[in-house]
Amino acid sequence: MIEKILPSWVVTAEEFGDVPDATLFPEEEELIANAVAVRRGEFVTGRHCARRALARLGVSPGPIPRGERGAPLWPPGTIGSITHCAGYRAAAVAAERDAATLGIDAEPHGPLPSGVLEAIARPEEIVALRLLQNAEPGVCWDRILFSAKESVYKAWFPVTGRWLEFSEASVDIGTSGRFTARLLVTDARMGTDLLAGRWLVADGLLATAIARARQDVDPDGRRRPPQSGAGPLT
Ligand SMILES: CC(C)(COP(=O)(O)OP(=O)(O)OC[C@H]1O[C@@H](n2cnc3c(N)ncnc32)[C@H](O)[C@@H]1OP(=O)(O)O)[C@@H](O)C(=O)NCCC(=O)NCCS
Repeated sequence: MIEKILPSWVVTAEEFGDVPDATLFPEEEELIANAVAVRRGEFVTGRHCARRALARLGVSPGPIPRGERGAPLWPPGTIGSITHCAGYRAAAVAAERDAATLGIDAEPHGPLPSGVLEAIARPEEIVALRLLQNAEPGVCWDRILFSAKESVYKAWFPVTGRWLEFSEASVDIGTSGRFTARLLVTDARMGTDLLAGRWLVADGLLATAIARARQDVDPDGRRRPPQSGAGPLT
């Protein structure tokens, strides 16, 4: 599912349930020593997916520790992103020579719980959601917005090391499976204030992804027009 919304230079692995015989490295075990079964299952299977994807980049199995604010620490020369929700676990990784940043998120395809939209959406996003809802009522646009913002944060944080409020990105969702996120705070390390992403709804799930190619970043770190995720929809 997730590979359909990522460019070819990103490698993915996914599972639609937990992998019972998946194992952790000791330093990863420490991270979830006190976790409940559901959290353990998603963590273990997320790491399992990450190692499967990394293997396809030629990286030998090794621990993926947790860094600042929960961001995974990827092996040298690679970057990646992990997501999990009920019925789905996935990882996406890429070589640093190809990728400037990467963020993926999956959610159940259902409306957001009451009160969440007001907490995460900007006024212009709420207006746009009404239009989308009228045009295609079968899609949970509010959940797509939420997921897109989670992907933005996962693409933002590893590069900047900074928190990003939900109000600090304005997401414009298209009906064709694409979205753009305008960052309303500037951080030179991002090299852009515009992130291009894609979304997909399938089998009761939805996924969003942002993948910014290294080639989209000028040598001076400033932006070129975003082309990431701009491959044909399959
Ligand atoms: C961290 C966060 C994005 C995770 O999203 P989620 O939908 O709750 O959960 P998911 O299962 O999709 O993702 C969890 C995975 O994200 C990754 N993750 C956690 N913190 C991260 C961070 N700071 N940067 C990048 N990735 C992170 C981890 O791999 C984690 O899985 P793991 O703990 O098993 O390794 C979310 O909980 C959060 O804190 N959001 C607030 C910040 C935000 O979204 N701002 C909006 C900006 S527009």
